[in-house]
Formats: sequence, C-alpha cells, structure tokens
Amino acid sequence: MVTQAIENARTQIGLEIDTIEASGKCLNPVTLTPEGDVYYCGYADWRSGFFPGSVWYLYELTGDTTLLPLAQKYTEAISEAQNLTWHHDIGFIINCSFGNGLRLINKAGYKDVMIQAAKSLCTRFREKPQVIQSWNVTGNSWQSKRGWECPVIIDNMMNLELLFEATKLSGDSTFYKVAVAHADRTMQEHFRADGSCYHVIDYSIEDGSVRHRQTAQGYADESAWSRGQAWAIYGYTMCYRETQNPKYLAQAVKTFNFMKNNKNMPTDLVPYWDMDAPNIPNEPRDVSSAAVIASALYEMSTYPVEDPQACKSYADSIMTSLASPAYTAPISENGRFVLMHSVGSLPHNSEIDVPLNYADYYYLEALKRKLDLEK
Ligand code: GLY
Repeated sequence: MVTQAIENARTQIGLEIDTIEASGKCLNPVTLTPEGDVYYCGYADWRSGFFPGSVWYLYELTGDTTLLPLAQKYTEAISEAQNLTWHHDIGFIINCSFGNGLRLINKAGYKDVMIQAAKSLCTRFREKPQVIQSWNVTGNSWQSKRGWECPVIIDNMMNLELLFEATKLSGDSTFYKVAVAHADRTMQEHFRADGSCYHVIDYSIEDGSVRHRQTAQGYADESAWSRGQAWAIYGYTMCYRETQNPKYLAQAVKTFNFMKNNKNMPTDLVPYWDMDAPNIPNEPRDVSSAAVIASALYEMSTYPVEDPQACKSYADSIMTSLASPAYTAPISENGRFVLMHSVGSLPHNSEIDVPLNYADYYYLEALKRKLDLEK
C-alpha cells in the first residue's frame, strides 16, 4: 500500500509541478474552485507552506533529487511570511516549508527565517490571558464582526511547533515559554469533560478571563468540529515530544478516544466534517482531519500510552482508507491533488468536498512516519 501510495503521489504532484514550471511562475496550489480551477495562494495565506512542505516530503519519500531544487524554490518564494504579524498561522507556513527544508538540507539562511518567524509569532502573545491571539478583530473581516477581543482557535496549537524549534535553533527560551503558556491555557479552557474541544475561545485582553466559547468552522458552539479535534490530538502529541510533560500526552489521548469512540465515526475512520453535523450520514467527510489524526497517531504510538499498537493500527486503518479509490484521486484528475473529499469551512459555504493541500501534506507526513516506524 505504502509503495503504491508514494508512487501515486509522485506522479500526481509531479503533474502539478509540471503545470507550475510551464507557467513560468512560482504558483502555490491550495484547492479547487467551484468552477474546477486550481486555486493558487500568496505567501500570507495560512496554507502557503503546505505545497512546499509536500515537495520536501515527496523528496524524502522517493529519494528523487530532481525534487530538491523545486522544494527550495517553492519554499524560498514564501520567505516574506517570516515577517507576518497580523495572524497566527506563521507557524504552519514557515515550519512546514522552511522547517522541513532545514531538517533535510540545513541550508544556510533557513535557520534565520525560522527564528525571525518565531519572533513575529510572539508579537501576538497577550500577557493577561497568556495566549497567542489567533485572529485580528479589526477591519472588515468576518472575524471582526463576531464581537471578540482576543480569539484563540484550537488550530493555534499547531503553530507552537515553530516556537519549540526556534528555541532549539537559537538557545532563546522565550519561544519555549510562550509555547508552554499557550498550551497550558488552551488545555485549561478549550476542552470539555468528554475530551472534545471548542473551536474558538475568546479572552478578555483586560483581565484574561474567558468571554466566549464558540465555533467558527464547526456546526455549533457545542459540537465537535473534526479538524479541530485533529489539531488538538496532533498539537498535544507534539507538545509532549517537545516538553516530555505527560499531561499533554494524556490530553492528546483523551481527545483521540473521544473521536475513536464517537458513535458517528464511520467504519472507514474518515470523520464527517463535524461529528455532530445534523444530517449524518448524509454529511460531507473531511479527509484532512483523517490525515492529521493518522500522522499524530503514528507519533503517539512511539510514546508511553496504554496501547501503542492500537494507535498504530488505527492510523494504518485510516491510511488504508485514504489510499483506496474512495479517497485517492485518479491520476491527472482532482486538480492534480492526491486526496479528494475534504472540507474547508462549511458554515462559510467555502471549500466543501474538495481537495485541500493540507490533507495531502499530512497524508505524506503520515506515510513517512509509517515507513519510519516499520523500518
Ligand atoms: N486552520 C484553519 C483550518 O483548519 O481550517
């Protein structure tokens, strides 16, 4: 399965690379528009690091050195993102691109980009609530119309990896401390007793108290938006890796158990976009959340959890589903993305049942982790 999945991804992403190279531009593919065209983003889009990151993983998975200059070119094309301070997603953007590049070829300059990006992210740390603010609430954005002061989304856990890396690269523990403070407050406020999490917590800038517990991309404030659960499982597993604090691993396990035991989890283990969506089973699936959970579980299976083998088996079952024709697109179809059937934001009527570059990225990462475990 793994060999075939890698060959398939090489061919499909290779076709996208051919398209980009033929354009003479440094395009960054994200998804398909309702008209069926590939949507390409700029460096400030939260998804701009995933395509460069996928090319790094593809290089690692195949050993194909022709991919190396391309991975570098696509990565360096978004270097301006290191200075972004108006949203929190700089961790996703820079760590998936420059972080993988640094890990694989240690190119001069990549380390500086990582450290500068971590500094930019830390400008969003708010003293009273002890969190990194996710979204700005000024201007004309939809976020500014919700009445929030300091919204933090569970997705923000993923940005902490950049901060942990930056402390290792610079020796400056400030980044580490910000990451731990954010992870701790999030653990305190975002989770329900059953292990599931809210999407958005809005804090008071003045005194740090919680003003709202809500959703933005889920079905309802009290529902379990699947990608949010996936970010929590992955984020706290990563926090355990970086700190060795068992409370983070326990949180990741608890949220995973919530998903695993959920009465609405389909037998192929690819979640509905929200586990409480009203018309299940007639609701879109979200492949991106399945891919994120699979990748997290391969890592979790290497840590002291009750049944590591069960974590790996669950991830293997997800991967078998994703690699099947039910979710892997035929070559040259699906806008040359590998996986079909993800959901960006259903409440915003945006990107419903489409390919998404982050589904592909975490799928490739999961393939890499699976291979490493089985070696
Ligand atoms: N971080 C945004 C999302 O998961 O859609």
